[in-house]
Amino acid sequence: MEQKELIRLALEAREQAYVPYSNYMVGAALLTKSGKVYKGCNIENASYTPTNCAERTAFFKAVSEGEREFEAIAIVGGYAGEPTGYAYPCGVCRQVMMEFCDPKEFRVITAVSEDEYIDKTLEEMLPYGFGPSNL
Ligand code: THU
Repeated sequence: MEQKELIRLALEAREQAYVPYSNYMVGAALLTKSGKVYKGCNIENASYTPTNCAERTAFFKAVSEGEREFEAIAIVGGYAGEPTGYAYPCGVCRQVMMEFCDPKEFRVITAVSEDEYIDKTLEEMLPYGFGPSNL
């Protein structure tokens, strides 16, 4: 699947963002090695801490459905309307990616639009990461 299509799905996922506190809407689309896509949005909470990022929503949906092998994730974010800047994945989400993905292979596509994006490996996004291979 092309980056463009995965970004389109992330933009679609972003529409579902539940963000009454920050108003910052994030969407993610996670591509499995078998070609399936799991979408996720951020889900906030009045108690703030239980807030779940879009990327983790996508991962937890996928893993809970039995998926373990992933190819790439596209992420878009911003306040209402079209995204105007990049929404890079937070450290916690990078760590969750590290649990399930090969850092040299898995691609993190951070996008403003279908035509404007940055495509990096997880290793580039999380250098010197700690993962399952360390234990
Ligand atoms: N957020 C994400 O969904 N993904 C990230 O990687 C960064 C932050 C969300 C969490 C919260 O709902 C809002 O963006 C503002 O922090």
